[in-house]
Amino acid sequence: NWTAASFAETSIQELRDKIGNDKVVLGLSGGVDSSVAAMLLKEAIGDNLYCIFVDNGLLRKNEFEQVLEQYKFLGLNIKGVDAKSRFYEALAGESDPEKKRKAIGRVFIEVFDDEAHELTDISWLAQGTIYPDVIESVSATGGPSATIKSHHNVGGLPDFMKLKIVEPLRLLFKDEVRRVGKALGLPDNLLGRHPFPGPGLAIRILGDITPEKVRLLQEADAVFIDGLKKAGLYDKVWQAGVILLPVQSVGVMGDERTYENAVALRAVESTDGMTADWVHLPYEFLAKTSNEIINKVKGVNRVVYDISSKPPATIEWE
Ligand code: XMP
Repeated sequence: NWTAASFAETSIQELRDKIGNDKVVLGLSGGVDSSVAAMLLKEAIGDNLYCIFVDNGLLRKNEFEQVLEQYKFLGLNIKGVDAKSRFYEALAGESDPEKKRKAIGRVFIEVFDDEAHELTDISWLAQGTIYPDVIESVSATGGPSATIKSHHNVGGLPDFMKLKIVEPLRLLFKDEVRRVGKALGLPDNLLGRHPFPGPGLAIRILGDITPEKVRLLQEADAVFIDGLKKAGLYDKVWQAGVILLPVQSVGVMGDERTYENAVALRAVESTDGMTADWVHLPYEFLAKTSNEIINKVKGVNRVVYDISSKPPATIEWE
C-alpha cells in the first residue's frame, strides 16, 4: 500500500545512501515536478543540493521573483539567474515555432552550463523526470528537464551532461508527485500550478518575440489568471493562458479609431495534455475578463475565446 509519506521517507534514505557527501545540481522551473524533486533532495542532502532557477524572460508576470522568494522560504539553496537578454537576443527576428523552441533550449543549456561551472566538485545532475516522461521518449511537458532531454544529441555535450543523473520521481505519476509534495510540506499554490511550457510565453506570441510583446502578453495573462483565481475557477481548469495574435484590428475609443492587437484566451480541461476540451467558462466571467484586458492593457483592443478542442487543435497555438 503506497502512501506518499512512506515513499518520501524511503526515497530520502535511498538518496542519502546513493549520493553520500557528493554535490548535486538541479534546474528548477517553478513547476511541480522539479520543485518536488528539489524538496526530496533537500531533505536527503541539505545544502549539497545546488538549485539554479533561470529567468528566460518568458515567464508570467512577476513569476520569477515570486517563485524565487518561495523557494528561498522553503529553505532551498538556490541561485536565480537573470538571463532575459540572452534569450531575447537569440530569439530576435525568429518566427518559426520550432526554431524558437530550439533557440530557447540552446540558450537554456548554455546558461545552465555557465552556472554549473561556477560550482565546484559537482558530481550529479538531478532532474524532475516523472514516469510519463520516461515512457514517452520525447517529453511534451516539464521545463528544464524536458529541454535537456530533447537536446541530448546536439553535438558536443555541455559539461554538466557528463554528470551522473539522479531522478527521484522517475517512477511516479503526476498525482503521486503532488501527493509526495504535499507530504513534504509544499504549499498548495505551488502544487496546484497549471502546467506551463518550457519555452513559456515565446510559444504564446505568434511570430517573432520582442520584450514589448512579452510585457503586453504578461499583463493580459495576469488579468486572466488572477481573474480565474478570484472567481474560484483556477483549480477547475487544467491549463489556461493568453495568446498574442499577430493580428491588428480596428476598434474605437472615444472619438478615435484604434488599430491594435487582438489576444485569444485559452482554457482547457484535460488529464494528461494528450487530449483536451475547451472549458465552458461562464459568459459573465469572459465578459469581465475581456473588459478588464481591453481597459488595462494598452495595445489590446480585441479579445476572443478559443473554443477548439484537442484534437484536432492543440492546447498551445504553436
Ligand atoms: P499541445 O500544444 O501540444 O501541448 O497540445 C500539450 C502540453 O504540452 C505543453 N507544451 C510544451 N511543454 N515544451 C514544454 O515543456 C514545449 O515545447 C511544449 N509545447 C507544448 C503544453 O503547454 C501543454 O501542457
